[in-house]
Amino acid sequence: MVAPPIAVLLVSCLCFTSSLAALYTEPRQLPRHTYDYVIVGAGNAGNVIASRLSEDPRTSILVLEAGVSNEGVIASVVPFLVPTLTPNTPYDWNYTVTPQKGLNGRTFPYNRGKILGGSSSVNYMVHQYGSSEDYDKIAEITRDSGWNWDSVKRNIDKHEKFVPPADGHDTTGQYIPANHGTNGMLSVSLPGSSQLIDSRVIATTRDLPEEFPFNEDMGGGDVLGIGWVQASIADGQRSSSATTYLAAAINRPNVHVLLNTHVTKLLRTGTIKGVPSFRSVEFASKLDAPSTIVTARREIVLSAGSIGTPQILLLSGIGPRDELEGLGIPVIVENPSVGKNLSDHVLVPNIFHVKDGESLDALFRDPTLFKAALDEWMETKRGILASSITNHLGYFRLSSTSSIFSTISDPASGPKASHWELMVANFYINPKPDDIPPETGSYLGLLSALISPTSRGSVTLASADPFAHPLIDPNYLTTPFDIFAMRETVRAVKRFAAADAWKDYIIAAFGNFSSDADADLDAYIRDEASTVYHMVGTASMSPRGAEWGVVDPDLKVKGAEGIRIVDASVLPFPPNAHTQGPVYLVAERAAELFAPGSMDDL
Ligand SMILES: Cc1cc2nc3c(=O)[nH]c(=O)nc-3n(C[C@H](O)[C@H](O)[C@H](O)COP(=O)(O)OP(=O)(O)OC[C@H]3O[C@@H](n4cnc5c(N)ncnc54)[C@H](O)[C@@H]3O)c2cc1C
Ligand SMILES: *[C@@H]1O[C@H](CO)[C@@H](O)[C@H](O)[C@H]1NC(C)=O
Ligand SMILES: *[C@@H]1O[C@H](CO)[C@@H](O)[C@H](O)[C@H]1NC(C)=O
Ligand SMILES: *[C@@H]1O[C@H](CO)[C@@H](O)[C@H](O)[C@H]1NC(C)=O
Repeated sequence: MVAPPIAVLLVSCLCFTSSLAALYTEPRQLPRHTYDYVIVGAGNAGNVIASRLSEDPRTSILVLEAGVSNEGVIASVVPFLVPTLTPNTPYDWNYTVTPQKGLNGRTFPYNRGKILGGSSSVNYMVHQYGSSEDYDKIAEITRDSGWNWDSVKRNIDKHEKFVPPADGHDTTGQYIPANHGTNGMLSVSLPGSSQLIDSRVIATTRDLPEEFPFNEDMGGGDVLGIGWVQASIADGQRSSSATTYLAAAINRPNVHVLLNTHVTKLLRTGTIKGVPSFRSVEFASKLDAPSTIVTARREIVLSAGSIGTPQILLLSGIGPRDELEGLGIPVIVENPSVGKNLSDHVLVPNIFHVKDGESLDALFRDPTLFKAALDEWMETKRGILASSITNHLGYFRLSSTSSIFSTISDPASGPKASHWELMVANFYINPKPDDIPPETGSYLGLLSALISPTSRGSVTLASADPFAHPLIDPNYLTTPFDIFAMRETVRAVKRFAAADAWKDYIIAAFGNFSSDADADLDAYIRDEASTVYHMVGTASMSPRGAEWGVVDPDLKVKGAEGIRIVDASVLPFPPNAHTQGPVYLVAERAAELFAPGSMDDL
């Protein structure tokens, strides 16, 4: 993985003390131990719930977050410093995946933000919602029309605030204003600095319009084609759930946030109509520290993400009986689906050697260049560091005549949804942790990701110790469809790279994917694949009364009373999007499902 050389030093915080009133760092600072709602995880989704529920001044809210404050973490502000935020930093959970049999037994880090804002404070800031057919499929799976696109998209206006790009360029034809909100909470913008290869990407959509058409805007539910990236960036700075939703709420007297606090389990507090009810949350700052218990009068909201949420459920005795009994955890709600049905977008880098002059590789190698770019950002919030790392991406389908469809039904969300994604990087990028970037030369990354995987994995407890990492097994590329589709993405990337637009630029494939033989491509993929970090499904929604699934369509935990789950884990399958946008829409919809007011009124 690339990491700007100087930036690494900057990851340490600027350390000004927090001015935020109700942001506590030690349990003894908490003014009370009973709230209407206790939210576990001040992440991407958790901060949306904290912000929306606290709009009613009668409702009291406590948010418990394991990580540190995002304030003063400069790498979480400057968009292009994002590669220094994870893995294995003070802002990351430092998870790794179990050895992956579909990837030659390899293991690698699975990044997750451990900081206010959660993964929205460390992600690559691509912001989109997915295909309309993703939401229509969720509505069909859950048998709840409240999840269909027409219903969910109403929340875009509340959520999104589309702003001009950092460089103020003319954005005509780069997005469709009618698809976007201008008055919502999270700022979103088009790329804030142009790159020399931008015109080649656009030219490719004219050279090969059948296979790689231009898409003016993926934000309206139509994702097919390639277009300009929209990112959670405003004025050259990251826009996360902490800098937006939480910032709007933190000075309200009814919101308290406790940092550095690891939730260890939810406690059963009684039985209501024969169903176990949960109203208390136990937490501690570290393994040997004393634990504290707080109570939620109305509900506990679990927003600990696709790994943290199933881990906490399992530790609380909600999960598969055999797994819990094997670890000596008393079973309170038997549910074989907790932690299962994990799915994720698999990534292959597809790097090309290119002629010098247009790529950004020198920036990563030359400290003087990097310092100049950083100085420019510090002075003006502009320049190359004001953008995230890609200006173009797109979504595509496999050919409808692909042989795989004679044996396997199409796993895409629908006929207008994609099977794979292309991301264009104007420099050498390979997320494999042991990869060593070359010291010379210029490169182009045409990264491909599997959007409609059929492999399913799991999160299970490794131990009853709540501070031990769970076993994370995404089970990548273990179905015939997944390896077939991934192979076709590499072939499609080679067709993209063969367009006239690249003829005087690309020299040769740099990775080991020149051969077109199935076996050679499979070997390359199994050797190189990693992830886009879009894990979902580990506490999936399913219809009310279904034999499977973890939450009902109203996000309440099945077979329990008092717990709702609001985060990426409830999505039944990965959407046609990078996942923060879908998580924001899930959270905005969830906020509408809570009854207004305080328990005191009842
Ligand atoms: C490196 C990386 C790059 C990505 N790039 C993009 C991108 O460009 N665009 C995009 O759309 N998506 C991207 N994603 C994915 C996206 O950020 C996530 O899908 C999304 O943010 C998940 O939101 P969440 O609310 O489910 O979880 P999170 O945002 O991860 O929030 C979970 C929160 O719960 C806290 N927590 C967990 N366990 C406990 C516990 N026991 N006690 C207390 N607190 C706890 C965590 O610290 C965290 O703050 C990326 C992710 C990563 C890691
Ligand atoms: C992750 O690793 C970094 C670097 O070693 C360390 O500073 C940080 O505390 C670790 N985080 C966790 C949650 O263990
Ligand atoms: C996984 O999801 C499918 C639906 O997509 C469901 O039929 C199956 O029962 C689920 N498995 C578990 C263990 O929850
Ligand atoms: C490239 O792929 C071929 C065919 O699978 C394999 O034999 C060779 O070892 C690979 N080379 C590298 C550098 O990975």
